[in-house]
Amino acid sequence: MSGILFTDVLVEGRRCDLRVEGRRIATIADAQGSRLAPRAGEEVRSGGMLTVPLAEPHVHLDATLLGARTPNVSGTLREGIANWAAVRPSLTHADVQARARETVDRYLSWGCTRIRTHVDTGSRVAAEALLDLREQLAAEGVTLQVVAFPQEGILRAPGRREAWEEVVAMGCDAVGAIPHFERTTEEGWESVRLAFELAERHGIMVDLHCDETDDPGSRNLEVVCAETLKRGWSGRVVAGHCAALHSYPAPYRAKVIELVAASGVLVVANPLDNVVLQGRYDDYPRRRGMTPVDLLWDAGVPVGFGHDSIRDPWYPLGTANLVDAAHMAAHLGHLTSVAQLQRAFRTLHADNHIPFGGPPRLDPGAPADLLHWPGDAIDVLRERPRPFVLRATTRPS
Ligand code: FE2
Repeated sequence: MSGILFTDVLVEGRRCDLRVEGRRIATIADAQGSRLAPRAGEEVRSGGMLTVPLAEPHVHLDATLLGARTPNVSGTLREGIANWAAVRPSLTHADVQARARETVDRYLSWGCTRIRTHVDTGSRVAAEALLDLREQLAAEGVTLQVVAFPQEGILRAPGRREAWEEVVAMGCDAVGAIPHFERTTEEGWESVRLAFELAERHGIMVDLHCDETDDPGSRNLEVVCAETLKRGWSGRVVAGHCAALHSYPAPYRAKVIELVAASGVLVVANPLDNVVLQGRYDDYPRRRGMTPVDLLWDAGVPVGFGHDSIRDPWYPLGTANLVDAAHMAAHLGHLTSVAQLQRAFRTLHADNHIPFGGPPRLDPGAPADLLHWPGDAIDVLRERPRPFVLRATTRPS
């Protein structure tokens, strides 16, 4: 038996019946019109909601599951970076790949089949392991993109820029940078421009850790947008974190959000990490650390939600269930109207796919890569259940 009939399910907000035959979606019938009758031997699943698989736009698979080896006592971003730098020389190909594989399997179990990982260019070993894993996963129908991320900057010490360029040349999908961590404001801006130049040379994308700080003086996002506009690279650039945007004076924040909207930069918020890593220099009241998602949405800017860390030197928790990130974002961003909650969940199967070329199709003839959820978007955010995962690559043809 290879057929499945979903009856009375929500598909993009409409109640439908949907039939899967073999590895493809065969038919979608609006439940207001003619219904699909079950066939002999067909599995029938009723109610709930169907979506395409989820996508993860921002995680660090080189450091995943290392949290127990390197506890972050202060809970700060800086201690996380220091602890990671201490453990990094002991990494082996097998260790990196085994931890990354375990985390990828967790993502798959929660219905996520596209993952963008950063890899610290301070470890050639880690880069080789993740690029090798990318090829293994491709054979299983799972997309892994690798961003060459210089965790400790490229201009702070001799050799870092060269190591970053070497890892990019190994075949990464995107160039990363960390401008707020460079020594000076000017060197931060210079690192942004160098990242764009390097991406141009290799014909790949740009994905920066941008202003992951509460410091309202950290003003790299405007430079990222200006470079994107200058080059016409709309859709090719991701700015991750953008926590300082939360703390900018209102007139400057409004100007930057306009620039983000005009440039076509995708902002990726990482609410789970940033709510605990930011605010560490605050007395009370403490800032929430997350980029202002509501203001970005209001300006027409797509915002992805990343998990960022799964029990690593920065964040001791993490499940690889992306619904946790949307759930946290809804709380931190006051995104609790019905429309905002629906959009928060939709982000995971829609805007999170932008770095991968956009969401997969959900229409007749498309591969039967589907998630069946037990309720609507708000039910899913509330309960954070494991979906029924249907993967075309593992079905009989
Ligand atoms: Fe990150």
